Amino acid sequence: MTRRNKEMIIYKTDAEIALMKNAAVLVSKTLAEVAKILKPGVTTLEIDKLCANFIQKHNATSSFLNYRGYPFTICASVNDVVVHGFPNDTPLKNGDIVSIDMGVILNGWHGDHAYTFIMGNADPAAIELVKVTKESLYKGIEKAIVNNRIGDIAYAIQEHTEIKHGYGVVRELVGHGLGRSLHEDPQMPNYGKRGTGPKLKENLVLAIEPMINMGSREVYTDEDGWTIKTRDGKPSVHFEHDVCVKRNKALILSDYSIIEAEEKANPHLNSSYY
Ligand code: MF3
Ligand code: CO
Repeated sequence: MTRRNKEMIIYKTDAEIALMKNAAVLVSKTLAEVAKILKPGVTTLEIDKLCANFIQKHNATSSFLNYRGYPFTICASVNDVVVHGFPNDTPLKNGDIVSIDMGVILNGWHGDHAYTFIMGNADPAAIELVKVTKESLYKGIEKAIVNNRIGDIAYAIQEHTEIKHGYGVVRELVGHGLGRSLHEDPQMPNYGKRGTGPKLKENLVLAIEPMINMGSREVYTDEDGWTIKTRDGKPSVHFEHDVCVKRNKALILSDYSIIEAEEKANPHLNSSYY
């Protein structure tokens, strides 16, 4: 048996980046469909079906379904669920904080990203957590340029969330390289030291995904073997973008503007924070 212990980072060509953008944007378009139908009473299982149908219609398959036995198309992580929540038949309600994470394989390339929605009149502290987590993702992305290091991105996220706002940064789960595989090297933690870790070179594609807890950073895995929850039961927020390292400014392959347009048009969703 061969064991790979050295990091193997795969850099993409510009033509491959263009294909990866198509995959990432298909995820964005799917999440925009989710933004259209979210309202109290809708279940995450219904959302899972909608997403499965939408990507099939667009000639893509799910990155998540059957990945290490994962049984759904999306991860739906509500309130104290951090990530990897199973879609279920519990109706969503006013005040819920709903992260939808989805991956597709389109023409052999993975797109994998996530967005957190606020249902109606949520707790202002939860809205602030959503705002700060989203901001932290962009602060990380600003550091995704040639000659910086993974630790520079990681620290920017940790600084904004943990140091500046006192939130808990989950340690057990990290972002990752992305390409023909869902998870490639390098690992992309949301905490770390500036100037450490692999050096960033042009056309490395990273899935950067802060998972930020309102309270303690401690998490545990539910009996289903997948669902990650906060130990203290307080809310957690997850955003994820697919990002290509470039010389002066990172290229974001996924597109929140499509999702945000539908979010703003939906009276059941709260987008007042941005
Ligand atoms: N964005 C998550 C990740 O990169 C989603 C994985 S869920 C799984 O780990 F079902 F695919 F495992
Ligand atoms: Co991911």
